[in-house]
Amino acid sequence: MSADEPTTPTPDTVYRAGVVDVFRDVARLHEGPPVVRRADGGAAVLTMDAVRAVTKRRDVHSMDPVSVEMISQVMGAGRPLIPLMLDGDEHTKYRRLLDPLFAPAKMRALESDIAELAHALIDDFAASGEVELFGAFCEPLPSQIFLRLLGLPASDLDFLLWFKNGIIRPDDEEHRAAASPKLIEYLYAELDRRAALDHPGDDLIGGFMTAEVDGHGLTREDVIDITFLLIMAGLDTVAASLSCMIDWLARNPEQRQRLIDDPELTPAAVEELMRVMTPVVGGGRHAVGDFVIGGVEIHAGDALGVSWAAANMDPTIFEDPTRVDFDRASNPHIAFASGFHRCLGSHLARVELWTALNVLHDRIPDYRIDPDAIPGYNNTAIRTVDPLPLRFTPR
Ligand code: HEM
Repeated sequence: MSADEPTTPTPDTVYRAGVVDVFRDVARLHEGPPVVRRADGGAAVLTMDAVRAVTKRRDVHSMDPVSVEMISQVMGAGRPLIPLMLDGDEHTKYRRLLDPLFAPAKMRALESDIAELAHALIDDFAASGEVELFGAFCEPLPSQIFLRLLGLPASDLDFLLWFKNGIIRPDDEEHRAAASPKLIEYLYAELDRRAALDHPGDDLIGGFMTAEVDGHGLTREDVIDITFLLIMAGLDTVAASLSCMIDWLARNPEQRQRLIDDPELTPAAVEELMRVMTPVVGGGRHAVGDFVIGGVEIHAGDALGVSWAAANMDPTIFEDPTRVDFDRASNPHIAFASGFHRCLGSHLARVELWTALNVLHDRIPDYRIDPDAIPGYNNTAIRTVDPLPLRFTPR
């Protein structure tokens, strides 16, 4: 253990870059109380019961109005992103429109397209015996599928990844500042192009342009504020999750062998790996009423941090939580959040993750971490393993 490594992790210090299997530290957060005052005065909510309770309170909003104003300038067109930054009836109205578009049966129907693209990406490196898998597979697979769903050309992928990285993990201040305005400009041009056609298209963007909510069509601004969030969510989280899962399976070959021998076990393995990895580690919330949670008094105006990752390591819900067990009888994890803002894209993410793992195991079953390279363990915000250098038997 290095001198600067804290002996007991706290909600402020647990997610350190470079740590492999950070979930062991996350699990130790349960040595303390369920809700903890943070150094900045906010409260970290850690247990499953407390997180579930907080995220279904109407007097807890997704964000405070000052942050909505500030963040929507950096991440958006200066208006709240839909639906993430909305609450109450306004939020419900948009979820009613969006939920059916991402329903489980619709997403399952994409399985053969996802498998075909996974094979095509693997064709490019299968003969070489080595690959940086994040850039070659984890990122392009879900991103290209998502662009097809939105109805944007694959040739725009590099620009859209540049935009998404500018928001989530910018190279520098210039990158961060340029990302939002460039995407807004791009999206307005896309809406203009479609408005000039007889029919705006049978894809998601075309659907938003013709959708009705409460008897009214969406405004151009609504369509932009929805699409902006979807691009950010659709292009990062699945890639991040896939990289965490493959890294773990590369280091745990006996568990990987179980999936190679029985691909039908993969959906259960994905649920368990989502629980353990919880790539989106937590979310911010804003109290608009007074209440007590986990013995801590919360007042209107308090900032709350709900930890999906800690809740998924709660020993009162998951027996032996740090054990990765594909055969858990029950796995009520909340890696896709809980409450009003639970993930819109979870069914899409699941089918992408199962399919990607099964095709990878079919094509290059004996992958391992390249002993001469160092994987990039990024444990903050959205946990990612980038780069993910692998070696395997060339095929
Ligand atoms: C494995 C991949 C994914 C993970 C781990 C994940 C996780 C999450 C989490 C934790 C939240 C809650 C955020 C909060 O309340 O602070 C969320 C919300 C959301 N996710 Fe995902 N997500 C994933 C994939 C996707 C995909 C592919 C889409 C694209 C449709 C998507 C769209 C959204 C949207 C629109 C919300 C906001 C929902 C609302 O505010 O009502 N996500 N996601």
